[in-house]
Amino acid sequence: MLAADYRGPYRVRAEEKPMPKIEHPRDAIVRVTRSCICGSDLHLYHGMVPDTRVGQTFGHEFCGVVEEVGSAVENLKKGDHVLVPFNIACGQCHFCKQGLYGNCHESNPQATAVAGIYGYSHTAGGYDGGQAEYARVPYADFGPHLIPDWMDPDDAVLLTDVVPTGYQAAEMGGIRNGDTVVVFGAGPVGIMAARCAWLFGAGRVIVIDHVDYRLEFARTYCPAEVYNFREIDVVVFMKKTTDGLGADVCIDAVGGDAVGNGMQYLFGNKLKLEAGNAIPLHWAINSVKKGGIVSIVGVYGPTGNMVPIGNVVNKGLTLRANQAAVKRHLPKLIEHVKNGHIDPKALITHRVPLADISDAYHIFSAKLDNCIKPVLIPNQA
Ligand SMILES: NC(=O)c1ccc[n+]([C@@H]2O[C@H](COP(=O)([O-])OP(=O)(O)OC[C@H]3O[C@@H](n4cnc5c(N)ncnc54)[C@H](O)[C@@H]3O)[C@@H](O)[C@H]2O)c1
Ligand SMILES: [Zn+2]
Ligand SMILES: [Zn+2]
Repeated sequence: MLAADYRGPYRVRAEEKPMPKIEHPRDAIVRVTRSCICGSDLHLYHGMVPDTRVGQTFGHEFCGVVEEVGSAVENLKKGDHVLVPFNIACGQCHFCKQGLYGNCHESNPQATAVAGIYGYSHTAGGYDGGQAEYARVPYADFGPHLIPDWMDPDDAVLLTDVVPTGYQAAEMGGIRNGDTVVVFGAGPVGIMAARCAWLFGAGRVIVIDHVDYRLEFARTYCPAEVYNFREIDVVVFMKKTTDGLGADVCIDAVGGDAVGNGMQYLFGNKLKLEAGNAIPLHWAINSVKKGGIVSIVGVYGPTGNMVPIGNVVNKGLTLRANQAAVKRHLPKLIEHVKNGHIDPKALITHRVPLADISDAYHIFSAKLDNCIKPVLIPNQA
């Protein structure tokens, strides 16, 4: 089969690889019909994630058709159309029982923190992912969700990550009626977080980035007030626009590949003295009001040194963060798609044959051609 192949930083290409096989009675094999590239994949692509091994198949956002199921999988059959949450979760452990599917204790041998994630380095379990014609889906009796007949597959594939992650970002913000919510990052996740902030009762939604075409998209889609951080002093501006108090809720939807401070970028991303840099987290902590909440879905390496933790203490802030527990949110998000409150597929700007995956990574990483979300289409899809 054709599949993504990581060859080192900034090098992902499509290669012929062996077909995945059932390895455990709870496995399924899915023929992939759509698979996205995510901002999280860019951390891999930029060489920022420890133990990303040459030869891995990336891809944690995919949907497709069940080809084969293991002997223990009774709720799926060949031919079912499924979307596959990016978290690999057993559904039975201490953490899964609490709905913390991003923290499953069984699916990742390095289980002190994150659950297994498809195609996301050996730090997240070493599983091959779905930027391929076929993928092995472990715990298939728990993870995959049947795609309703009425649903467009372009919407379904965005329910594997972007929509639940944006939604959880807003949920973790503890937004109350009328709150001012600031979202850092106008990528697919930040855009969705801003959109979902309204569902929780926000009174004002502000999106910050430096890529103008993304800000323009956020302005109409979310909708939101948008600002280019290169044109303002972010923290001073936030204070001024909130009567000197600060925002009620700040959401970090950028993560460790942030730009905006040359020194931090040099230390964190070029010299790798820390795992990426935390500029948006600085801005969030310093822009939120005293007693406010900072919700973090941007992905950071385990160590980020230059986080102003003293300000967190002195301002009495609450920091909330996680990998989104995708499956927990699906029933209500499917309703929101059905009743038109969320239009996920509007984010898709590029449809690229799987064979041209190198181009898709380059365009998305370099923010070329007004790219917001690229989806890869395998030949046989
Ligand atoms: N927690 C989760 O479950 C989860 C799931 C999916 C993605 N993520 C993470 O969310 C983040 C966003 O994902 P995405 O797909 O939208 O990525 P993306 O790379 O498309 O978007 C990130 C955006 O942040 C902007 N940016 C860079 N520096 C900034 C700064 N200092 N302030 C404000 N904006 C800045 C970039 O210009 C870009 O538009 C990534 O870190 C990704 O790994 C987390
Ligand atoms: Zn993703
Ligand atoms: Zn579990």
